[in-house]
Amino acid sequence: MAEYQQFDYDVLVIGAGGAGLRAAIEASSAGVKVGLICKSLLGKAHTVMAEGGMAAAMGNVDDRDNWRVHFADTMRGGQYLNNPRMAELHAKQAPARVHELEAWGAIFDRTKDGKILQRNFGGHAYPRLAHTGDRTGLEMIRTLQDHGIHLGIDVHMEHTILDLLTDAGRVTGAFGYDRERGRFKLFTAKAVVLGTGGIGRVFKITSNSWEYTGDGQSLAYRAGAALMDMEFVQFHPTGMVWPPSVRGILVTEGVRGEGGVLRNSEGKRFMFDDIPANYKSQTADTPEEGWRYVIGDKSARRPPELLTRDHVARCIVREVREGRGSPHGGVFLDIAWIKEKIPNSAEHIKRKLPSMYHQFKQLADVDITQTAMEIGPTMHYVMGGVRVNGDTQMSDVPGLFAAGECAAGLHGANRLGGNSLSDLLVFGKLAGEHAAKFAKESRAAVVNPDQVDRIARQALEPFNHTGGVPPYEVQHKLQEMMQNLVGIVRREEEMRRAIEELAEMKKLAANVSVTGNREYNPGWHTALDLRNLLTVSEALARSAVERKESRGAHFRDDYPTKDPEAAKFNQVIRRAQDGSMQLTREPLPPMTDEMKQIIEEMK
Ligand code: FUM
Repeated sequence: MAEYQQFDYDVLVIGAGGAGLRAAIEASSAGVKVGLICKSLLGKAHTVMAEGGMAAAMGNVDDRDNWRVHFADTMRGGQYLNNPRMAELHAKQAPARVHELEAWGAIFDRTKDGKILQRNFGGHAYPRLAHTGDRTGLEMIRTLQDHGIHLGIDVHMEHTILDLLTDAGRVTGAFGYDRERGRFKLFTAKAVVLGTGGIGRVFKITSNSWEYTGDGQSLAYRAGAALMDMEFVQFHPTGMVWPPSVRGILVTEGVRGEGGVLRNSEGKRFMFDDIPANYKSQTADTPEEGWRYVIGDKSARRPPELLTRDHVARCIVREVREGRGSPHGGVFLDIAWIKEKIPNSAEHIKRKLPSMYHQFKQLADVDITQTAMEIGPTMHYVMGGVRVNGDTQMSDVPGLFAAGECAAGLHGANRLGGNSLSDLLVFGKLAGEHAAKFAKESRAAVVNPDQVDRIARQALEPFNHTGGVPPYEVQHKLQEMMQNLVGIVRREEEMRRAIEELAEMKKLAANVSVTGNREYNPGWHTALDLRNLLTVSEALARSAVERKESRGAHFRDDYPTKDPEAAKFNQVIRRAQDGSMQLTREPLPPMTDEMKQIIEEMK
């Protein structure tokens, strides 16, 4: 029998980033007993890496903005594969969530007349991102943490969940371990909320932190929930490329929102060369017009650097492939040029983009107020994840909820920058509210001791293997392979090869050996992460190979255009009885007449 310590909750929240914290606050405020699991330390969530701001149609900078425009922008960005109900709720509720955060103590940059300042970001018709310099995610986590800590939430830091517990198809808790000492922990719960974030560590070059190993998606999948839209992975156009140790770290879109431009090695603003037809009417024809937009001229059109992320990323890849890249395989992002336009530009840049200034100064010895940065695409976000009900955030498994990046639906085929932080707040709140309601209406959780024993036994297996490969070797192979075969530009034969290689890697992963004991053992943690990394990689590769078109963030060299038939379905992944992964196509959720009318009007 496995030895473990037991904790009993009404609602267990797994993940303590923006979505998890917001869900925990809401559930706790509803009067139920809440436990919160963090993979790392409280306050060190990946959300702090979200820099540029949270999108909310408050109309503080341009009063033409409202929820209808935000809804239409989100749907267009997602190429209409979004769950329209989620896009509607998000656009309507984001302003209230931002004001609530302010009431809880968040400090935002201000307009001259004292309102919350909003900045430009790609794909948003108007300046819409409420921000705190380029440290908005940090401000959000600081505020939620300060607010939540007084509500009596039980926090378990540096814990990893190995599997969810279920009884008669319903979720009943989770089983995991503390990362310091390796001791097992059992958490019973009437409802569980997943807020575990993304899958970035599947790739070699990513802006995501070490915690992003697809835990929530994989836990839900193994418990019987459906995953959706896993082919849609966003490559942010601007990550650091040099020095190698910091490759992939995010360079916020806020740099372009504040006037930063992209140039190739010939000094040319190559983004003017390729403006998609559907964005022509909104995109500047001349650099001067784009600059006027940046400084708030309502009649000007946005610069091409603020086109959607998939498009900008592919233009950068093209420049590099065709030999017009920077010395270390990227292109140049230049904000220093604004000295031609505004006095004291160095001070202005340091005030608007303090983290970017320090990041480049300290990590690359580059002063961005004087010199262009070298940047290139970095895997940033997965639009797909656990399929949920748009109103309640409950998955197909009764009592199991998901919110934020680990849930699917809001962003469709591509996410607009800034829609992530607002997503965390809007759907974190809804998940917490409905999980608390579910818990109040449910009987106590029943734990199956055999299930617990099985999970504990599996977790300790790597210590019993001799002669297996080290876990880091499998992780490294996987990241190289996914980057090369299922990355930014995809082809049928490469993705098929990836699926075959994944089958081989699963065998290797099942036999990895680790040495030492359960205390402070990063090799063991990596061995345990492999199962989740491989699950989400397979879901991604299988979904990508079956979508035979290019749409949003999914670009195929062999099918470079959109297929109108493929605009009618989401791809859904489920675990079959024999343990294999099954993919089905399911019709998009319906739109109301009002939604259709908004989209038609905004076109
Ligand atoms: O560029 C950024 O600051 C990223 C923001 C986002 O992905 O929402």
